[in-house]
Amino acid sequence: MNKISIIAVVIGAVAISSCSDVKRTPGKIYMPDMAYSRAVETYNDNRELQAEGINYNAMPVAGTVARGEEVIYKMLKDTAGTYVTSSSMTNPLTGKLSEADYTETERIYLINCGICHGAKLDGNGPLYNDGKGPYPLAPKNLVSDELKKMADGTMFHSITYGKGMMGPYASQLSPKQRWMVIQYIRMKQGGETPGAAAATDSTATVKADSTATAMN
Ligand code: HEC
Repeated sequence: MNKISIIAVVIGAVAISSCSDVKRTPGKIYMPDMAYSRAVETYNDNRELQAEGINYNAMPVAGTVARGEEVIYKMLKDTAGTYVTSSSMTNPLTGKLSEADYTETERIYLINCGICHGAKLDGNGPLYNDGKGPYPLAPKNLVSDELKKMADGTMFHSITYGKGMMGPYASQLSPKQRWMVIQYIRMKQGGETPGAAAATDSTATVKADSTATAMN
């Protein structure tokens, strides 16, 4: 009994003496990659990397256009109702996508949009998956009547600057690629395939119902 109480007192003394508010250094770090995250965040203002000429935050200079860019977009983010006025913008790419452009645009769509909007464009991509996925909000069904009526310009504005829970795609896709994705969505809405004959009725409905001047 005595022995046990002596052991208890010793353990107690050690435990109490190890509690202290004196800050100690963590000692030598022999695996710094584990102690400090080496994550490089997009757009972070990393001066060390900039000194090496690596610019993660290099945004295009305002008002400039990339060399080779065919489509120039000047509408600003929704500061003064540009979401509404964007509906008057028309798609500078007319007609249907060629076979090669269709294949390329499908690739772009599946990489950037399919995860949420689904390969069938029905708004049920793997990230949402009938609400079972981690994404909290149902992505829009891009082949629904609502989206058939939405003006090309509105879509372009939302893809450029994001909408609600959807992020912006201005830095991932060039303006031309964004318009091509819209052409792709239109072709899917009308059940068109590249190389098939002239525009279908559904495209005509879009023109009549939307507030956009026209999509071609
Ligand atoms: C992370 C998931 C996600 C991805 C990826 C995504 N979207 Fe969306 N998208 C959404 C959600 C959610 C909405 C509904 C937004 C709202 O109304 O709040 C939406 C809405 C839209 C709309 C309707 C916009 C409007 O003005 O109402 C269009 C058009 C659209 N997406 C196209 C695209 C295209 C094209 C891509 C690929 C370049 C894409 N989305 C990528 C989740 C996503």
